[in-house]
Order: sequence, then C-alpha cells, then structure tokens
Amino acid sequence: MSQERILSASFGKILHYIREKDDEQPVVNYRNPSSLQQILKASVGDEPVGEEEFLKMMDQYLEFAVKTGNKQFLNQLYSGFNLPAFIGDMLTTLTNTSMYTYEVAPAATIIEKEMIALMNSYAGYPDGDGIFLTGGSNGNLVAMFTARNQMLPESRFHGYDRTENLVVFINEQAHYSFETAANLLGIGAKNVIKVKAGPDGRMIPNELEQSIEQAIQNGQKPFFVAVTCATTLLGAYDPIDEIAEITGKYGLWLHADGAFGGSIILSNKHRHLMKGIEKTDSFVWNPHKLMNIPLVCSALLVKQKGMLQHNITDLNTDYIFHDSEEVEDLGKKSIQCGRHVDAVKLWFAWKYFGKKGYARCMDNLIEMANHAEEIINNHPRLELMAPRQSFSVCFHYVPENGENPNEFNLAIREKLRKSGHSIVNYGYMGKELTIRLVAANGELQTKDIEQFIEYFLKTAQSLEKHQIIAHELET
Ligand SMILES: Cc1ncc(COP(=O)(O)O)c(C=O)c1O
Repeated sequence: MSQERILSASFGKILHYIREKDDEQPVVNYRNPSSLQQILKASVGDEPVGEEEFLKMMDQYLEFAVKTGNKQFLNQLYSGFNLPAFIGDMLTTLTNTSMYTYEVAPAATIIEKEMIALMNSYAGYPDGDGIFLTGGSNGNLVAMFTARNQMLPESRFHGYDRTENLVVFINEQAHYSFETAANLLGIGAKNVIKVKAGPDGRMIPNELEQSIEQAIQNGQKPFFVAVTCATTLLGAYDPIDEIAEITGKYGLWLHADGAFGGSIILSNKHRHLMKGIEKTDSFVWNPHKLMNIPLVCSALLVKQKGMLQHNITDLNTDYIFHDSEEVEDLGKKSIQCGRHVDAVKLWFAWKYFGKKGYARCMDNLIEMANHAEEIINNHPRLELMAPRQSFSVCFHYVPENGENPNEFNLAIREKLRKSGHSIVNYGYMGKELTIRLVAANGELQTKDIEQFIEYFLKTAQSLEKHQIIAHELET
C-alpha cells in the first residue's frame, strides 16, 4: 500500500466529512447490529487487506458513525465539531507521546501546566494543582481517593480498614461514578449516602446536614461531600455556598463535580450558578462536554499543591523519572503511567476562541435551552417535566387516546433516532420517562431547536395516526 496515497485520500475524506456535517445530512445512517457487522466485514483475517479495501474501510466507518457534530445530535452532554481542537488532537496523535515526563513531552508539559493554572484561576485556587485524566468519572474517583488519603494516609500502604466506616454524601441525582469510586476504594457503594434534592434537582442543604448527623450517630465517619455542577439529567447546580458552610462545620472534603456544567464558570452572566466554587477542595471540569473539545478532555483541579503527589505510593522509579530538568514531571502526580496528551487540543481551542468566545458560547447554549423551554411551554401537547436551570430541558409529549406516556415517548425517541433526523436522549424521574434535550453544541441556533421540535412533533403525530388506524382495525 502506498502511504502517500492513503494519506491524501484520507485527508480528502476528512474534508468531505467536515463539510457534510451540516445539517441537511442525517445524524446517523442507522443499521441494526447484525447488518452493521456484515456491512463492515468486522472480523479480522490473517491476510492484510489491499489498498482499495482499506480506503473503503474508511468510507464505511465514516458513513455509519453517528455524526456528533451535526446539530440534530442532542443526545449526549458532548457534541459539536471544534476545528482548532481537532487540529490540536491530530497533532498530538501525529507526534504520539506520553505525558509522564518533560523529556518525552516538553511542549505538552508546558501547555498542560499552563492550562491547569488557567483553569485554577477560574476555580479560585491560587495555590492549586491539577491533572488531566481520562474523564469525569476518573476525576471523581481521584478526588475521593485524595480525600481518603488525606484523612487516612496510612491506608496507602496498609489498605483501608473497613471498621473506619467512611461515608460519602452526594446529591441523589449525582453521577453513578461516585458509587464506582467508593467501590474501587474499598469504601463500598452502599456507603455513598444519597441526599434528597428538591423538585429542581438541587441538593437540599438541610437534608445534607441531617444525613451527616445521622451518620455520625450511627458510628459512621463522614469524610467527603460532592456537589454537582449540572446534574446529568436535569442540569441542576447544587448550592455550593450553603453546602460549603456545612462541610466547613464538620471538617469534610468538599468536591465539585463539574464534569457536565463546569464550563459555565467562563460565562460572566451565568457563573453565579457556581458561586462558592473557591470554597471547594477539588473540582472536576470536562472541556470535552460543553467546550466541544474532542473526547477525552477532562481535568481534576485541587485547591492545595502537593495533594496529588501524596496519592502516589512509590516513586522509586528511576527508570522513568530522571529529574534532569527544572520543571516537574507531571507523571509524578498521576495514577496513570502512560497518559494521552489532552491539554494541547484545549490550548489550541482556547487560544483560537479566547475566553470571550467561550463566554459567548456558554451564554448561547443557555439561550438555546431557554428557547426550547419556551416552545415546550407554549405547545398544548408538550409538557415540561422539571424546572430548567441550565442546559438540559426535560419534557415529554402528552399523547392522545390515553396512551401510556412512557411507552409513547420512548416510541417517539426510538423512531426519531432510527430515522436519522435527530437523536435525543431520555431518562427516568422516578417512574416517569422524560425526554432530555441538551444544548451542548456551541454552534446551535434557534432554527436548529425549532427543527428538532418539528421532527419530534411530526414523529409523535405519525405514531398517533398509526395507532388510531391500529385501534380502528382492532375494533
Ligand atoms: C455530572 C457528571 N459527572 C460525571 C460524569 C462522567 O464524566 P465522564 O463521562 O467524562 O467520565 C458525567 C457524564 O455525563 C456527568 O454528567
């Protein structure tokens, strides 16, 4: 195979793909798993494929991938296509290195340090530290790990003693990764206490304090409280200021999970939702969500320098860390050894758009969510399921003919997804299914939201018509 021919063909395909991402194209060319398995000829044989086959593999992969840059991709908390970040990511893949030492990643080390300092300046951590890691879930894990090691330093060497009865507190609607983290750390998922939230999805501070008191009475040892800055389903921001008063009173580690909504800190208009962030001890922020940086791009920030280093058990590693430069090797504070370069794509994007560009982007996303909410409130068959605080709009369609709303809305969502017009997600609030529309793509405009609602309503109406016919045939 000619590398040159393959490269120039692939650049052509990339350009075509980027141009095509815009809107008239389907968001997905849906195939069921067995037919996709056949189309892709997914099994790998012993013989190398020829050049033509290799080029075809590229076309097919692109054809059947979900077009997450398409503005009708409203399904997940990440989306969009970010040109400077894409270029940054391409360059880091091209120059393929690992983030552990300055020796092999000099420019990337300088850039990661710069980005952590910049992000810390927004968090209000003047003496802060931080590390890019493999996502918000792992950020939550490392935050809990750091808090545990601060409280019980010996557990690093002797293991965690269960009779210590450590317990963690989170919003009942917080991300599931906290339970996984407790599981991994030996604390146990059952020792993650879920604190009641109000109808808007925000943790109720009084409930937190009562839960802490109750735990102490039960002989348990509270050590870690997580506030969520935009919960996964409702996009709710916990009241950090009020919760910080409680964690201060009991001497607990306060962590902010801003994996989804942390980027709002860049908006002068809306950053009040994170008021009090400087009182937290750690903060997870995922630029791969609302800043539309390609996955994965996620940082754990900690208020106090040296804390992350303290997690690492044994640095008797002269085969890798030679301390030959005056700059610290970032690997010394990471629980990973090999680590992907994730700060550079963010650096490219942040330089390209500037803080001002990102502030506008956050404001626009909130406006788009607001626009969707207004349409829903003004439509007789659409109903908001919970008060909206930020980027997520939770609603459902109220079907005619006494259909079960859960089944009916699920049918709309599935039909819409498979049609390729729009992909939107859903979740459950108690027993009620809610459609969750997320404004995450910074380029969204009102017409994209209106287009989505039109597709959604048309799908609902076609299902209703179909069901009326089905009812008539039955009777
Ligand atoms: C609030 C919240 N925390 C944590 C996570 C996990 O982040 P990641 O997918 O980067 O692991 C998510 C993911 O959606 C989230 O919404």
